[in-house]
Amino acid sequence: MTCTFKYKNKKGEVVVAEVTATTAGLSLLDEAESVGLVPAYGCRAGSCGACRVTVNEGLELLGPRGIVEEDTWLRCQDPPEVRLACRAELLPNAHGTVAFERAPDVTVEFDDER
Ligand code: FES
Repeated sequence: MTCTFKYKNKKGEVVVAEVTATTAGLSLLDEAESVGLVPAYGCRAGSCGACRVTVNEGLELLGPRGIVEEDTWLRCQDPPEVRLACRAELLPNAHGTVAFERAPDVTVEFDDER
């Protein structure tokens, strides 16, 4: 598994990081943090919506929504390309680029300048 993360932070800067290995069960948020990216988050449990990201590229490299993510996605009335970074997981054999940024209406303040 080799993926390139392209994370657009709140300043509009695109930060690139390589993910060369993954551990089953790690979320997109966990994976991003492991390579030095700092996406916004809140509960880390799938309920607050603070970690909602728009996936601009590589949506097919993520597994399907689980029940918790599906419930929050429906409640927030998000488009299909919005995922919860704390719940979405890379597919085991993912290979490619995942480009993402915080969803437009996420207003949580967090130091995501990296
Ligand atoms: S951090 Fe709360 S839903 Fe992801």
